Amino acid sequence: MHVIGGTASTALAERISRELSNAPFGIPFTKRFPDGEMYVRVGGRLEGEDIVIVQSTRTDADLLELILLEDAVREAGARKVVVVVPYFGYARQDRRFFPGEPVSARTFCRHVELDADAVVTVDLHSSETLRQFTKPAFEASGIPAIARLLRERPIDILVSPDKGGVERVRRMAALLEKPWFALDKKRIDSEHVELRMPGELPLPIEGKHLVLVDDVITTGGTIVEAAKVLHKRGAGAVSAACTHGLFLKDAFERIKAVTDEVYSTDTLGNAAEKASVAPDVAEILRAEMPSP
Ligand code: R5P
Repeated sequence: MHVIGGTASTALAERISRELSNAPFGIPFTKRFPDGEMYVRVGGRLEGEDIVIVQSTRTDADLLELILLEDAVREAGARKVVVVVPYFGYARQDRRFFPGEPVSARTFCRHVELDADAVVTVDLHSSETLRQFTKPAFEASGIPAIARLLRERPIDILVSPDKGGVERVRRMAALLEKPWFALDKKRIDSEHVELRMPGELPLPIEGKHLVLVDDVITTGGTIVEAAKVLHKRGAGAVSAACTHGLFLKDAFERIKAVTDEVYSTDTLGNAAEKASVAPDVAEILRAEMPSP
């Protein structure tokens, strides 16, 4: 098995290759033609090999590079191709909200799987999107990676910033054997939210170390407001953990100003990256690509 790391996911790809008993790892050559078009070339002897391409699709260019890489490894004679998309962009538009819109998540599932035999992703915006793939598709979770990290920290209570994250925080709480609760969230616009404490708490939070658990941090609006609400109610420390840390604009600095620690997995590569999903992705790959 060979692992190829696209430019959006080079470090994670290398970690995955190490998890796969140090499978050969390569970085493709990429450049832009003078007219702006993208060029990629893969090296190594790939004929008859099982290939894993790792590339998050945060930007349009990332997506294009992934599609070119898939074609390149097919041209090079790959036997089986599994595409790992740690952060699957465009997943939020998973239905037509207004007439005239595309279902972006569906069309990108179809494009991403075009030259792949299987797809692996991590914490999709909605797991329902997995059904849009026609090839075998798997979703790893960022929860075990964050839990491995939090196990080493003196934390008391886990908190979901909204009801939509209840299942996530419940799973994390079960792994860590900690109590949890969820805040009530009302989104005002794409950057602003209103958050309220729930009527009942599992135990008093005064002086306790609380960890906010979310799937993605984008503008930081949710975590900043949540941390303020928890501090106002007397929390001793508030940390924030997420799978995908997009941290747009000054989100990271704004979150750091109101929290004690910020944790993210390595699906995107950022300053908060402290936990790796590599073992969890590798486990799926080992099952999907058993050694002959
Ligand atoms: C919402 O449903 C998600 O779980 C996140 O809470 C949200 O996307 C975070 O966005 P932001 O950082 O912009 O508040």
